Amino acid sequence: MEFREVVRRRRMVRSFEPRPIPPQVVDRVVRTTLRGPSAGFTQGTELLVLDAPDQLARFWGAVSPDRGFDRAGWPGVYNAPLVVVPFAHKAAYLARYAEPDKGWTGPNGLPDERRWPVPFWYVDAAFAAMLALLAAVDESLGALFFGIRDPAALRAAFGVPDAFDPIGAIAIGYPAPDRPSRSLRRGRRPLDEVVHRGSW
Ligand SMILES: Cc1cc2nc3c(=O)[nH]c(=O)nc-3n(C[C@H](O)[C@H](O)[C@H](O)COP(=O)(O)O)c2cc1C
Repeated sequence: MEFREVVRRRRMVRSFEPRPIPPQVVDRVVRTTLRGPSAGFTQGTELLVLDAPDQLARFWGAVSPDRGFDRAGWPGVYNAPLVVVPFAHKAAYLARYAEPDKGWTGPNGLPDERRWPVPFWYVDAAFAAMLALLAAVDESLGALFFGIRDPAALRAAFGVPDAFDPIGAIAIGYPAPDRPSRSLRRGRRPLDEVVHRGSW
């Protein structure tokens, strides 16, 4: 599919057919997800990939014990045969940027957090999430990025170390008809309102 077509077709899909994704397709989506840029080529983003029914049941039990998507009118989210969770790993970036070629250390030679203009570990994890959303479209799949309200519950369910922050989760599957989000009524902001050409 043409890149522009992939971008144009991407939307958050909130209902999936309950059928599995072939393993080779899952592999391609996962590989593409990790093909993005990373600050200092730290490659600090790590993924939890869940595509077996028991894994998915454990995931939803941990992150959605109140079945919130049911109540929101999107029960088909729970049919997703694949969930990818990108984790940001701050410690990997502090260590990488304390290496001699970066030297983001304080007077004591230890990583200096004040050197960080923005948390690159979240930037990189978000790049990965975007690639997952686009890779899904490219494979004729749909995807939903959604927030994880209780990261501790997710970590506990899958043995994830505390140092890893889930930036959200991506449910992926074959799209089924769904109700559009009410947020879309806001409309897309016009270009000249958000683009500041030459100066702000
Ligand atoms: C950081 C982030 C968090 C989001 N969290 C949720 C969520 O928890 N539940 C949900 O249904 N959609 C969530 N969305 C999807 C947005 O509502 C959606 O991207 C937006 O309305 C634009 O729609 P579109 O992606 O279909 O173009 C999230 C999107 C982003 C980027």
